[in-house]
Amino acid sequence: MSDMSKFKVVLDQEKCIGCNTCPLIDPDTFEMDTSIYKAKVKAQPIEIGEKIKTAISSCPVGAISLVEEKD
Ligand code: F3S
Repeated sequence: MSDMSKFKVVLDQEKCIGCNTCPLIDPDTFEMDTSIYKAKVKAQPIEIGEKIKTAISSCPVGAISLVEEKD
């Protein structure tokens, strides 16, 4: 069974408190913007793997979410 849905990682910088958790968990996807001490999406992942799910569930303020992309 294949999942044809495409998801995009979205990080709400209004919510981010700069705790640095998401870049530690998944440095390929997230990085800190040191000019504002908030994280940002470094690169969209090819697929949504465990590291991204862990980063999402570990964010203390729920700033990271997955948004389904419609064609
Ligand atoms: Fe910010 Fe949450 Fe990452 S607070 S640094 S988006 S884990």
